[in-house]
Amino acid sequence: MADVKAAGTVTLGSVEKVPLGQGFCFLVAGEEIAVFRQRDGAVFATQNRCPHRQGPLSEGVLGAGKVICPLHAHVFDCRSGAGPKPEECLKVYPVSVVDGQIILGLGTGPRC
Ligand code: FES
Repeated sequence: MADVKAAGTVTLGSVEKVPLGQGFCFLVAGEEIAVFRQRDGAVFATQNRCPHRQGPLSEGVLGAGKVICPLHAHVFDCRSGAGPKPEECLKVYPVSVVDGQIILGLGTGPRC
């Protein structure tokens, strides 16, 4: 369960919940949100369900700021949300790590 900390943000807990180099799905206000933790320490947050056929992106392969969907291998940019087609783009969320805690912005960033 997410802990609402301040207006517009939610604390999702320790960054250790997200294995290095992988993603983890959080349920926030009824929405599945994938948080990714790249091996270089960068973190990203996107909608969890793939716009193609609802594959769980948090179980995809992560690298170079991109995630590969585990179902049909479509590739998405975790920063911009851009996918292989204009109609296949992701909602992206502002996310950061403060004192080892994941802080998620509730408003989505620009959608591709
Ligand atoms: S469900 Fe993600 S590429 Fe098909």
